[in-house]
Amino acid sequence: MLERIEELARQARQDIAAIKDEEALRETQVRLLGKKGEVTALLKGMGRVSPEERPLIGKKVNELKQELSRLLNTWREKIQAMVLKSRMEATSFDPTLPGIPHGTGAIHPVSYIQEELEDIFLSMGFVIPDYGEAESEFFNFEALNIPEDHPARDMQDTFWLDMPGRNLLRTHTSPGQIRAMREYAPPFKAIFPGKVYRYEALDASHEHTFHQVEGILIDREVSVANLIHSMKVLLSEIFGREMVIRLRPGYFPFVEPGFELDFRCTVCGGDGCSVCKQSGWVELLPCGLVHPNVIRFGGLDPDEWSGWAFGLGLSRLVMMKYGIDDIRLLMGGDVRFVEQFGKV
Ligand code: FA5
Repeated sequence: MLERIEELARQARQDIAAIKDEEALRETQVRLLGKKGEVTALLKGMGRVSPEERPLIGKKVNELKQELSRLLNTWREKIQAMVLKSRMEATSFDPTLPGIPHGTGAIHPVSYIQEELEDIFLSMGFVIPDYGEAESEFFNFEALNIPEDHPARDMQDTFWLDMPGRNLLRTHTSPGQIRAMREYAPPFKAIFPGKVYRYEALDASHEHTFHQVEGILIDREVSVANLIHSMKVLLSEIFGREMVIRLRPGYFPFVEPGFELDFRCTVCGGDGCSVCKQSGWVELLPCGLVHPNVIRFGGLDPDEWSGWAFGLGLSRLVMMKYGIDDIRLLMGGDVRFVEQFGKV
């Protein structure tokens, strides 16, 4: 038996030394160490060895098995290195160079809050049409009751587009009110979030490019009481708690009456703190009942249809939510800023 082991060992060493490629390596490994391999057969035959010889023979066979495994592994590494080398010589591509790292992206905080709001409004039966950022002067101003010589235009000067007709980058999401009234048969309720543009003196709370979410509801006999109730429900959904709100008069040519809506500061509960500038109230959004002229421009009869609308400053809501103290960070394009929200 010892002789057979010696003979097998000699032959196996020779065979392994003669291996030239991966195919031969695989074949030799199976022939020697596979389930039906020669060394495995020796181990299986141990039962026929006398009890006195068994410890020695067993030790020899195991040693041989380990030696052959080691030799085969060394050959495998050598052959793989040879294959890699010949592949590298055949091409200019060097797979050993370090790769270009691709960091994991992060959702921009404005997109994140926008998606959250969309989910809430969708669950309440609102539709969310997508209206473009390039608008005509008619939809952005005239149809919203802001004729050419109206002073309100000064507050929303913008970027005019160099193309036929009077087109511009929308200054607010309100043109969507007209588009939605023309698109949907009333009664309906819709929101349209998106980017807006203004020729603006920039500071920590004013950007030339920022985000708004417009909301509109058109139905019969909509009143200020409906508006207050709807706003309260919406804000309680958005903030995930019961919200106390108040309305102050506000002027916007496309609503009558128009309001500025504040909510009781959620940080101090109304006692006064730095977030609410010691007033106990935080200004959130302008809103009002849709002006009859605007309903008419939307193609509806103001004697039959009425509605409310609001224009939420999404950028400012995001700032409030995350404690961001300079709006210019939002659209500044600095990846390091967005990366901080990787786990929102
Ligand atoms: C409007 O844009 C009206 N279209 C809103 C509206 C809709 C009123 C429907 C009534 C009915 P205003 O110019 O106030 O209104 O802007 C609305 C919100 O956008 C502001 O409350 C503020 O949060 C945000 N906002 C305005 N200007 C800027 C700016 N330069 N940078 C960042 N946010 C701004």
